[in-house]
Amino acid sequence: MFVCLGNICRSPLAEAVFAQQVLAQGLEKQIYVESCGTAAYHIGENPDPRTIKVAKKHSVPVNHKAQQLITQHFVSFDYLVVMDESNAQNANELRPTNASAQMLKLRDFDVLNKGADVIDPWFGNEDGFEECYQVVKRSCEEFLHFLVNKHNLGGV
Ligand code: 4NP
Repeated sequence: MFVCLGNICRSPLAEAVFAQQVLAQGLEKQIYVESCGTAAYHIGENPDPRTIKVAKKHSVPVNHKAQQLITQHFVSFDYLVVMDESNAQNANELRPTNASAQMLKLRDFDVLNKGADVIDPWFGNEDGFEECYQVVKRSCEEFLHFLVNKHNLGGV
């Protein structure tokens, strides 16, 4: 479960990019992917038009309606992958005592500027969405390697 604030820019892009990578590796039966936001502002909405545009530019299919993070997600998902520190703080406020999901930060898997935040492109221009795409793509590739190794996925 990829988590950002509004679930219209960063996390739906991460979901779409990661789902495409998962499919390319034939792992779609082993890895289930979704995204959500910690805020309720955009529930039910399509991704931001700039998210759709950058995804289309890179031939990544996007099909998502914004949803909000709920306590159930802490038990129904193995990993909650946040975009920045504020997402982690906001998400932790909802964390139930029986939470089993592990919380990770997407750029912990980035080979460049490891551990940084995925900057929120919402307030900026389209360049920010392209930058966001590049960061998300790089990080998701490494995150997928991590999952494959850790859970021994894709074996015959
Ligand atoms: P996201 O970006 O968290 O990457 O989806 C945002 C989208 C909307 C808002 C903030 C961030 N907002 O304040 O409405």
